[in-house]
Amino acid sequence: MAILVTGGLGYIGSHTIIELIKKGEKVIAVDNLSNSKITMIDQIEKITGVRITFYQVDCLDKEKLEEVFKENKDIRDVIHFAGSKAVGESCVKPLLYYENNLMSTINLLNLMIKYGVKNFIFSSSATVYGTPKRVPLYETDPIGGTTNPYGTTKLIIEGILQDVYKVHPEMNIAILRYFNPIGAHESGLIGEAPNGIPNNLMPYITQVAVGQRDHLNVFGDDYPTVDGTGVRDYIHVVDLATGHVAALEKLATNPGLVIYNLGTGKGTSVLELVKAFEEANNVKVPYEIAPRRPGDIAECYANCDKAEKELHWKATHTIVDACRDSWKWQQYFTKESKK
Ligand code: NAD
Ligand code: UFG
Repeated sequence: MAILVTGGLGYIGSHTIIELIKKGEKVIAVDNLSNSKITMIDQIEKITGVRITFYQVDCLDKEKLEEVFKENKDIRDVIHFAGSKAVGESCVKPLLYYENNLMSTINLLNLMIKYGVKNFIFSSSATVYGTPKRVPLYETDPIGGTTNPYGTTKLIIEGILQDVYKVHPEMNIAILRYFNPIGAHESGLIGEAPNGIPNNLMPYITQVAVGQRDHLNVFGDDYPTVDGTGVRDYIHVVDLATGHVAALEKLATNPGLVIYNLGTGKGTSVLELVKAFEEANNVKVPYEIAPRRPGDIAECYANCDKAEKELHWKATHTIVDACRDSWKWQQYFTKESKK
């Protein structure tokens, strides 16, 4: 049997494919390369020794996507990472985000139903909780009040999945709400390579550390947190990847529709992360305090008891591991880019 991974050459998809291969699973990846490179296939092969089956297909292209299902009658599970994910860009190009994220999911679900594929994992986000009334966040906490089109696509897709499940109770659907993925594979051969100026904290830190940028802007130091800077739940991307393997094992038991937070349960402030990075790698990360970033919240971290109890999964990597691996990857990436 095979697992179809959409967006498989992206940041989280590639790390998940490696963990699936480690488990002996057969993987079929689909990606339109809008935010990834074809060379990721070579990198995955370097790490695992396995060359994955790959289709350069846009999930918006129903016909081409159907070919993948026709040619691979052994698909048992679908993990759907494909989508657009930049919060800022989604405010400027809302229709692109609604079209890409909603239509790619709808196309996939239609094909799954047509070809009798029952198990679906969806990449949701902590962003669906909007502005949390309290932390840590539990899966049962209210969702809604998203502040940007990207977040709203995740919220709408969660609703679509609930509605589809009502009429297709034979399906098993895992909605995984990721907190803040950071880090890279310990080999340093794959990681996150954002185009342009990074929006997210860790890629910004690594680009400052490697000398590509002058200093980090810390967005606000007057939040009601441990040191005034924003607090998030940073989860190592390899832990996130093993969370998908655990969720697949859960889906094999026919649980119906299930929802899990994937985080660490611990909050870390911006300045704590900077300090951990400097100490782990013995490099300096100059920073300046800047105004708050519009739309940011003070604190966001998960309660992950449900995943631990029901998926028998918990994050095992530390912030220090993530800082070390991100740095390893940034150095490799910088060296390769200069070739
Ligand atoms: P990514 O951009 O690295 O990976 C997404 C991949 O999907 C890319 O390789 C891109 O080329 C591909 N893609 C986009 N649209 C496509 C389409 N229509 N057809 C085929 N391929 C398409 O992003 P990521 O960080 O790996 O995120 C994966 C998923 O997890 C996304 O759905 C994202 O919204 C979600 N998520 C990410 C984070 C995060 O902070 N990274 C947090 C919460 C949720
Ligand atoms: N930050 C800085 N300087 C920077 C970048 C970020 O100080 O240059 C701060 C932010 O203000 C925030 C923290 O670092 O306090 C984390 O910011 P990120 O942009 O890395 O992450 P967010 O929590 O804002 O958002 C991320 C994803 C969203 C997702 C959300 C919840 O980018 O897509 O996590 O999963 F919705």
